[in-house]
Amino acid sequence: MIGWREDGRDRSARWRSESGAAPPRRVVVADDATRADEAYRLACEGTALLWRGDFQNARQLLAAMARRADRTPRSRRRKPEPPQVQAFHLYRQARAQRAHTLGMLLIPFEPGHTIPLRRAPDVAQACTEAYGPDDEPYVTSLRELLGIIGAHEWREKGVPIPALGDDHIHPHYGVFSPVRGEYVDLVAQAPLPATTVAFDIGTGTGVLAAVLARRGVRRIVATDQDPRALACAIENVERLDVAKHVEPVEADLFPDGRAPLIVCNPPWVPGKPATPLERAVYDPDGRMLRGFLAGLADHLEPGGEGWLILSDLAEHLGLRTRADLMGLVDAAGLAVAGRLDARPAHPRAADPDDPLHAARAAETTTLWRLTSTR
Ligand SMILES: C[S@@+](CC[C@H](N)C(=O)[O-])C[C@H]1O[C@@H](n2cnc3c(N)ncnc32)[C@H](O)[C@@H]1O
Repeated sequence: MIGWREDGRDRSARWRSESGAAPPRRVVVADDATRADEAYRLACEGTALLWRGDFQNARQLLAAMARRADRTPRSRRRKPEPPQVQAFHLYRQARAQRAHTLGMLLIPFEPGHTIPLRRAPDVAQACTEAYGPDDEPYVTSLRELLGIIGAHEWREKGVPIPALGDDHIHPHYGVFSPVRGEYVDLVAQAPLPATTVAFDIGTGTGVLAAVLARRGVRRIVATDQDPRALACAIENVERLDVAKHVEPVEADLFPDGRAPLIVCNPPWVPGKPATPLERAVYDPDGRMLRGFLAGLADHLEPGGEGWLILSDLAEHLGLRTRADLMGLVDAAGLAVAGRLDARPAHPRAADPDDPLHAARAAETTTLWRLTSTR
């Protein structure tokens, strides 16, 4: 719950945050008369602003607050560049602080996910997709709401996947979206060791299972731990008319049994996710990567291949070395039978203002073809 004073009365409402943000302790009422400097100052101090004005003005206020958050203080500009790993931690800290501050502008909801503000859009469908049905009032941050609206638009529109002949994958809220197509192309190009059975470990939207099905693999067991991902994968493989070949299974890593081909695209950066939405990017202590490698030999059929898809961004950031990775491969009784590389084509790789530009510009995504040495 959050509490505030309004019209001389103490008021309260249920707090919602899919990103796991704690309810703000101090809340004041704000409206069209609230100035951006004042709003930004309050937000930096940890005071949230519950919006009562025009919805579109709240969007503009949030954009003005974001511009203030992105101004680099003069004192920081001339400091020497810290080493890459430190730069990465500072970058994450700054992003978390920015998210915290911008999360202080709050929007009230009435039952049925309706917003009782002037010029508010109809977000009932988008919020139902992210939160489930709701028939009680609540408050959430405008920043989270904009993320939910954006996710709904992507879900409607879909992401074109060249490896699927430009058919679309429709990601659900909170499910890893295959916007970076280069890793999907690697799975479309690598020579198939067999077309009988494959496992897709951590299937997300189901994109890799769908690519394997289109390549003629007759049965693909697609696992994930996240029920949202499984629901999303089921919808996508149905839409793409490959559902008869794909069996979604809720599992921690591997399903039962063995397969001649096991594919896994774990989160690429070891680290603690700051929010549940970061779980597809950050792998705490490299748990999924280690778990996949450690269990692979026991799930491969003789002569089978494990395809590990991993970018070397973590290596460029100083968070993992190539020797660490090869050590894990070796210790798991595996050998590298081959590799396919791709250079990322995403726009941030070419953005010199991105604080992680050097690492992103040097990044290579690799499909490692692994075989058992046992
Ligand atoms: C980086 S995403 C990749 C999704 C999809 N395979 C792709 O390539 O677009 C990693 C996925 O692994 C799932 N995952 C994480 N840990 C897992 C585990 N222990 N067992 C099964 N799935 C897991 C996440 O929920 C997420 O959907």
